[in-house]
Amino acid sequence: MINLLRPGRPAQLHPGFSGTLYLDFLAELARKRGTRNYLEIGVHFGHALTRIACDTAVGVDPDYVLEEDVTKGKRRTLLHRCTSDRFFAETDVRALVGGGIDLAFLDGLHLFEFLLRDFYNTEAVSDPNGLIVLHDCMPLNIEMTARDPAAPRTDPFKAMWTGDVWKIVPILKTFRPDLDVVLVDCPPTGLVCITGLDPTSRVLSDRYREIVRSFRDLADPAERIAAMYAETPVLRSADILNGEDHSLYFRI
Ligand SMILES: C[S@@+](CC[C@H](N)C(=O)[O-])C[C@H]1O[C@@H](n2cnc3c(N)ncnc32)[C@H](O)[C@@H]1O
Repeated sequence: MINLLRPGRPAQLHPGFSGTLYLDFLAELARKRGTRNYLEIGVHFGHALTRIACDTAVGVDPDYVLEEDVTKGKRRTLLHRCTSDRFFAETDVRALVGGGIDLAFLDGLHLFEFLLRDFYNTEAVSDPNGLIVLHDCMPLNIEMTARDPAAPRTDPFKAMWTGDVWKIVPILKTFRPDLDVVLVDCPPTGLVCITGLDPTSRVLSDRYREIVRSFRDLADPAERIAAMYAETPVLRSADILNGEDHSLYFRI
């Protein structure tokens, strides 16, 4: 899968995704699943949160700057201006929303150790039949995966910074083979949908330091990303949205 675009261009890891825009996919999935309790880590302008219809929505971001009416389509919208680590440390999420989270969108800081903590903290407060969706874990080239968001990037993907959150896919496959991890072809940089949640699992939190030590400085990140694409099929968002029965794609 690794091929050179042109001399002087960084190796391309994937030709790009042409499915449903991630914002539309997420909104339609929330509607189809009859979402009650939605959690979003990383709200920014509110573009994703605004589109979600649910009973209670919780948004967490230390620096959100709302550009849209995020209360649209919801009975309650609760915004927390703090980091996700602080939110999970200080909040009884189940008590706050009156049950487990049944859809979560994790789109906060794009460094894998942050997403790893966001994932296991979210799973612990999720409904076992819930769905956790991760953004930006399907990079198109190696430049966009730099841990430093200010590192130089070349066209045509200059504006895209995924950081190294792609590492979550091999981490979950290695340390949590009990989870169902599905890659979906939503532009610009994919969505990863995770079901089969076990809110009682402590594997990732107990082994957190070991996992971070072994994944932080990989010698061969491009090869590891190519292996992720080779080993995990990328499903078509249109098939998932048009399907009558999501059990073909996710555990429900
Ligand atoms: C890519 S934007 C989110 C976009 C939004 N989900 C959407 O699709 O419309 C990432 C956001 O994560 C927030 N962020 C950064 N560090 C964070 C942290 N530690 N906890 C929660 N959010 C964080 C940033 O402030 C930024 O607004």
